[in-house]
Amino acid sequence: MHLRMSFGTVFAGAVLMVMTSVFMTVGLSSLSFQPAPSDIARPLTAQEARGRQIYISNGCVYCHTQYVRPQDWNAAGGGKASRVAQAGDYVFLQTMLLGSERTGPDLSQEGGIHPDDWHKAHFKNPRYTSPQSIMPQFSFIKDQELDDLIAYVQSLGGKAADARVSQMRAQQDEVLKGWYTSYETHLAQIKEMVPPTWRDLKSAMTPTTRSLLHGKQIFLSNCVGCHGQNGNGRGPASSSMKPDPADFTRVELQVSASDGQFYQYLLFGLPGTSMPAWGDFLTVNDIWDTINFLRTIPKGGLTLPDSELKPEMMLNYDPRYGGEGAGKYPGPQPSNPDKALDNPYCYITPAASATQTAGCEKLVQK
Ligand code: HEC
Ligand code: HEC
Repeated sequence: MHLRMSFGTVFAGAVLMVMTSVFMTVGLSSLSFQPAPSDIARPLTAQEARGRQIYISNGCVYCHTQYVRPQDWNAAGGGKASRVAQAGDYVFLQTMLLGSERTGPDLSQEGGIHPDDWHKAHFKNPRYTSPQSIMPQFSFIKDQELDDLIAYVQSLGGKAADARVSQMRAQQDEVLKGWYTSYETHLAQIKEMVPPTWRDLKSAMTPTTRSLLHGKQIFLSNCVGCHGQNGNGRGPASSSMKPDPADFTRVELQVSASDGQFYQYLLFGLPGTSMPAWGDFLTVNDIWDTINFLRTIPKGGLTLPDSELKPEMMLNYDPRYGGEGAGKYPGPQPSNPDKALDNPYCYITPAASATQTAGCEKLVQK
């Protein structure tokens, strides 16, 4: 007897081969691969599980992944998700929400990157916190559900995220204590967060008109959602935030914070507040140009037309720079040797009290 190559036998053989290979690649590996929970894995709480359902039903997974491979070094906008995913990270999850498309950043380590305030504003309208975002608005999600969704987002990253979140909440409590005491206490408290070597730095970018125009452009395209169109801290995102975003029209704030202090806050964010870290998005020069520009806000940097933006409008503008400051700026250096130069009261009209303006005469004679 010999085997006939009838349609039936060929078909049965093909089916058998397909099933065998599916079993070998999928079935065998899922039966034999039972990874132990990784160091960060933990089950979700009931609230986080509800938030996860909202994540699924709103299609977040179409734009966000939840895994980082070794080659994805920039998956979360630089450094944030530097932890490469391990199989053991997912053992408590019934279906994986790995995703395949990164229209937005990877979220596998999102917990503890931003405070709840920031997420609230961001979900209401992503353009509030990230003006050029293409993420859709989720303002229709009801408050209770939004809290669940935020709890879920803060859980991403498991135990590592828990550590970040609890540190963030402790910092926010600490900052709010000072904030509700007085504005002066608050300003002194945030100054303490900056190492003394940074506190004494002056802007490293020569304050030219070019620098100011560039700084203005950066401010208008990244900062106004929180700090407001006229820099007074009353942008549309500010309603869900405490402490309020900084009001750059306030001379007290400008006087209290050095260029180096602003630099540190911009680079790393301001812990305990919704002020994000910009180090992954802006270059060193971008940041210094923005700081130069912030100094013009009390004198109309945002309200006057671009053609009227001049270095002389900066609060701590050094008259010795000359008109455009070309070649005359000594670059970053400790400001201590020349206190008068760094005293912004010298440049504020109407003049402040005599003690505040002590030493300013030196600056009048160039
Ligand atoms: C059309 C694509 C798209 C959809 C759908 C989408 N996002 Fe986004 N998401 C983005 C983009 C782009 C960004 C980066 C810009 C920004 O911050 O808004 C982003 C940013 C984020 C961030 C901030 C990441 C960070 O730390 O900067 C979070 C958190 C987030 N999305 C969560 C969600 C959740 C939760 C949903 C579903 C309710 C969702 N996204 C739906 C595109 C999307
Ligand atoms: C998501 C909202 C948000 C965005 C976007 C944002 N900030 Fe902030 N910013 C804040 C909050 C909140 C504070 C905290 C104010 C405080 O603690 O007094 C702050 C503080 C600051 C400070 C410190 C002020 C001080 O008190 O010494 C600077 C400087 C600053 N922001 C600059 C910027 C610049 C420049 C941008 C754009 C590149 C920007 N911020 C974008 C919310 C934001």
